[in-house]
Amino acid sequence: MELSVVIPTYNEAPNVAELVERIEKATLGIDTEILFVDDSTDDTPDVVTRVAGEHAIPVRLLHRDAPVGGLSGAVIAGLRAAEGEWAVVMDGDLQHRPETLPSVLAKGRETGADVVVASRHVDGGSSDGLSGGVRRAVSQLSIKVTKALFPTRLHGTTDPMSGFFGIHRGSVQLDGLHPRGFKILLEILARQDFTVAEVPLVFDARLAGTSKADMKQGIALGRQLFDLKFGRISGFAAIGALGAVANLLILWGLQKFGVGYLAAACVAAVLTIIGNFLLQERFIFDDLRAGARSVWKRWWHTFAFNGTESAIRTFALWVIVETTSLHSVLVQAGLIAIGFTLRFLYQSRVVYKQHEKPVTIDDIVEGAPTETAPTTTTPASV
Ligand code: GDD
Ligand code: MN
Repeated sequence: MELSVVIPTYNEAPNVAELVERIEKATLGIDTEILFVDDSTDDTPDVVTRVAGEHAIPVRLLHRDAPVGGLSGAVIAGLRAAEGEWAVVMDGDLQHRPETLPSVLAKGRETGADVVVASRHVDGGSSDGLSGGVRRAVSQLSIKVTKALFPTRLHGTTDPMSGFFGIHRGSVQLDGLHPRGFKILLEILARQDFTVAEVPLVFDARLAGTSKADMKQGIALGRQLFDLKFGRISGFAAIGALGAVANLLILWGLQKFGVGYLAAACVAAVLTIIGNFLLQERFIFDDLRAGARSVWKRWWHTFAFNGTESAIRTFALWVIVETTSLHSVLVQAGLIAIGFTLRFLYQSRVVYKQHEKPVTIDDIVEGAPTETAPTTTTPASV
């Protein structure tokens, strides 16, 4: 298989027929499959099945029973299931022209690049189909900011927000990505060094239906940029620092009301563990919640680990201060740093560890000899 065309769909029923028709025409002579990764609530899957039956090009439908990671999660699931040497991601609403597909593939082969971006901002490209001047201005500005944040890794592209791009599957690692929101290309490019080539993209108006981009996607982009730049660990550290301050305030406040310092310390510890847990659930690991163990298990793991960690830390403080000449504040600082690292590792590796989500793949293969029976694959953490 030379080319897998990966198309995320969310309620795109009226666009499917023309899309498949035009992809089939555009990729004549290229060994191609189409992969729909569908999270729809309308009849898109039925339409895909019907349309697939009317065409010779192999069409696969991946329906996600429990969608995680939104559009980006869908794209990653599709890239994992893809079998082509190149996988090209494009939208399912015909804002991306299927006729651009061969140029993406050709560009990749000719340059030996790992990633080929179909860009609205090179000669021959345009974003006229982006609805409204405000949306266009926001798009321009976010590209500028994003490129400024990652000057080296995004050096090779003028459009890191594009939803139309190809990856050479042998060269691009999908592990370690945190898919969320709309900007999966940014996620891929910002995390590793790749060689990038570009082709022009004319971004057309939608054929039918409505865009799923909204304010929430804007906020998601802001969070994504922060995470990519500073890593999850700095948000975790900020919450940890907040917790430490709260701990001291509670300790002080309770003593004012006559509570003994040991009892006050216990209450402060429990309250800050609860506070930290709620904040990390909401702001640090929210994208991993859906794929992790249940909220109660997450809570008990956190409580047990953090409680044990602070008990051991206090004990270690006592032992070290008593047996060496090191200053207690210095020792405590070192212990807090170690404890913080262990807590972060435990949270990200154990508490929010992703279980594998089943994805149903209906192989609808008309006119193609390979692959017949429907299969179920289990892609690694999406
Ligand atoms: N499976 C799945 N799950 N597909 C989704 C989801 C989802 O949660 N949300 C959106 N999609 C699909 C849509 O059905 C469509 O095929 C494609 O993803 C793009 O969604 P649109 O809602 O049409 O997005 P847009 O046109 O506003 O944004 C496009 O252009 C941006 C550049 O301005 C996308 O290509 C963005 O990725 C791109 O950044
Ligand atoms: Mn669109």
